[in-house]
Amino acid sequence: MDKTKQFLAAGILFAGFWMTYHTTAESRAEDVKPIPTETVKNSVRQAMQRKLVLSKEILNGLVLQDYDSIEKAAAEMKKVSLQSPKQIEGDETENELYQHFRLEFLRINSLMEKMAQEKNLEGAAYAYQNLNANCLACHSYLHGKDE
Ligand code: HEC
Repeated sequence: MDKTKQFLAAGILFAGFWMTYHTTAESRAEDVKPIPTETVKNSVRQAMQRKLVLSKEILNGLVLQDYDSIEKAAAEMKKVSLQSPKQIEGDETENELYQHFRLEFLRINSLMEKMAQEKNLEGAAYAYQNLNANCLACHSYLHGKDE
């Protein structure tokens, strides 16, 4: 390979990197859909009200040792959670924290499903406590942001 070819190859490589970098940066910016601070979308409200009902259903399932209804509620909880916003208004660190709570929420509900399938009451009860702690943690984090 002579010098010109080497130079050309390096140029093409650089252009490739440059384009990849910029396309990902742009698509990342498009993904950010901040929650409107005043009017929280109705869909979020509905999803959250559903979570409240489902969490009560899980408690009901736990006291009655009704593993089927625990499993169903946990599975729906995961679906509902996936409808909640993926981003919040704020900087990268704040969004990372929010993502942490979302993923933790999904993880706990998967654990709940598994425990119900295995008819493990203690395990499901443990997951339920973690679930409630997670609801509170995400909410107090969101409220702390407003102050
Ligand atoms: C990852 C974060 C997150 C988690 C986890 C979470 N929520 Fe929410 N929740 C929100 C957001 C965002 C809102 C809307 C903004 C606000 O009220 O601060 C909200 C609002 C609510 C509301 C008020 C809805 C309305 O009608 O205004 C209820 C009730 C609620 N959540 C229940 C729950 C319950 C129960 C759980 C756990 C089973 C839970 N949430 C877990 C983020 C979360």
